[in-house]
Amino acid sequence: MILLKLSQSAIGCCTFLLLIEALSISGTPSAVPHTHGHGDQDELGPEFLAQLTNITVPQGRDISFTCVVDNLGQYRVAWIKSDSKAILGIHTHMVSLNPRLSVTHNGHNTWKLHISRVQINDSGSYMCQVNTDPMKSLSGHLDVVVPPDIMNHRENSQEEGVSTEGGSISLICSATGVPEPKVQWRREDGKDIILRAENRDKQALKYVEGERLTLTNVHRSDIGGYNCIASNGVPPSVSKRFDVHVNFPPVIKAFNQLVGAPLEREVTLECMVEVYPKPLNGWYRNEGNIKLHNGSKYNITEQMISQYAWHLNLTIKHLTKSDFGAYSCSSVNALGKSETRIRLQELRMPPKTTTTLAPHVHTTSKPRRKQTPGYNKGLNEVVRAKETHFSNQMQQENDIFSGGTGMPQSGSSVNNGGIQESGNVNDMINGVKDG
Ligand SMILES: *[C@@H]1O[C@H](CO)[C@@H](O)[C@H](O)[C@H]1NC(C)=O
Ligand SMILES: *[C@@H]1O[C@H](CO)[C@@H](O)[C@H](O)[C@H]1NC(C)=O
Ligand SMILES: *[C@@H]1O[C@H](CO)[C@@H](O)[C@H](O)[C@H]1NC(C)=O
Ligand SMILES: *[C@@H]1O[C@H](CO)[C@@H](O)[C@H](O)[C@H]1NC(C)=O
Ligand SMILES: *[C@@H]1O[C@H](CO)[C@@H](O)[C@H](O)[C@H]1NC(C)=O
Repeated sequence: MILLKLSQSAIGCCTFLLLIEALSISGTPSAVPHTHGHGDQDELGPEFLAQLTNITVPQGRDISFTCVVDNLGQYRVAWIKSDSKAILGIHTHMVSLNPRLSVTHNGHNTWKLHISRVQINDSGSYMCQVNTDPMKSLSGHLDVVVPPDIMNHRENSQEEGVSTEGGSISLICSATGVPEPKVQWRREDGKDIILRAENRDKQALKYVEGERLTLTNVHRSDIGGYNCIASNGVPPSVSKRFDVHVNFPPVIKAFNQLVGAPLEREVTLECMVEVYPKPLNGWYRNEGNIKLHNGSKYNITEQMISQYAWHLNLTIKHLTKSDFGAYSCSSVNALGKSETRIRLQELRMPPKTTTTLAPHVHTTSKPRRKQTPGYNKGLNEVVRAKETHFSNQMQQENDIFSGGTGMPQSGSSVNNGGIQESGNVNDMINGVKDG
């Protein structure tokens, strides 16, 4: 009884009956004359043996609905599209002109409606109907789905957002698909997306939903790849990568603005620069402002620490008297230039005979500045012996730079102080040696 449904549409019914008549008149072999209403030979009348299945399928596939009817008697099985009330086929006769549709019958109690290469507008309810009076019918739903796709907004446009620091960047990711896809933004490196709204605390979010991602008051830490991911439950999900560029001028700092090293050794001067986009970095000898180049004397390396930070080393090999003096590291990009000075001092090696210096060593009570392993090895090896005198001086120098940000704090203005002071350092070192 549950299986029995009345047609919502008298029109559908009447069209059906008219068509049955038409088929009979046209002399189709399978068209058998019938009486309306009850068949007197079977009290039960036609009976559906199973529900129509609901079908969810990606666009382009072939599908079929199966209708199983017992005791059909002289009645007919027809297929109807519920929304349009269009009769698609009756028994084994196609009514619809759509070449992708067909109806079949297995000669027993099973009728099928086949739809090949389903399209979006094939979605909807399909009815298997028997022309009893009142008619009996079953409905099954076809859902044609389409996996998500991401549209390219402008042809050939690079997918990126560019701003200077403090500006805003808006990325748009329009996705199509059925059902309508959800769009989610995530950072490529797994970091949080930071939203800085005017009158609100900044928000750090693992992901942001919506077609548009708006970053306001952008910061250098926002630089990087962002992916928009569109999904609607129909695999595969798709994603698209966007590049966020936050431009700002360089700020360069020296790790140590005063470096001591003995003759014959090699020494490495180190600078750190924050800048975006990629800068041109260089090392200069300040006497004469000569640019230094890679070669047998100098080894110039730069290592990218993050998208916008670089570690610059200048290694000077086989130090001679003429190598001591002022150096500078510099960094230039389209937005500006920054440079800072480093003074390289000679450290006099203690004479070989005075190895008794070692027992004098006592460490300073002040905590030493955290240093990268291997940092200024040459200097420290020598300085250790004179720590009481030298480290205090170095401490003062270094304290200027240890701002806790992981980056030296001072620029070239403070550096001048360093250079003035350095004379004292030298005197002191020489004094120790002489004494
Ligand atoms: C088919 O889906 C309809 C809702 O669209 C639901 O009422 C019906 O019970 C479903 N039929 C089956 C056999 O799952
Ligand atoms: C269904 O969509 C196809 C294209 O996907 C179109 O050619 C056809 O005319 C549409 N049919 C109807 C009934 O809207
Ligand atoms: C320069 O330094 C780098 C890293 O410190 C090292 O790998 C390279 O071999 C050096 N090159 C020369 C010519 O010394
Ligand atoms: C200098 O040479 C080293 C290898 O010895 C190389 O890694 C580095 O990139 C070069 N630096 C420049 C500025 O060409
Ligand atoms: C040079 O810079 C690297 C980072 O690129 C650093 O790890 C290394 O300690 C520096 N080399 C020396 C000899 O100080």
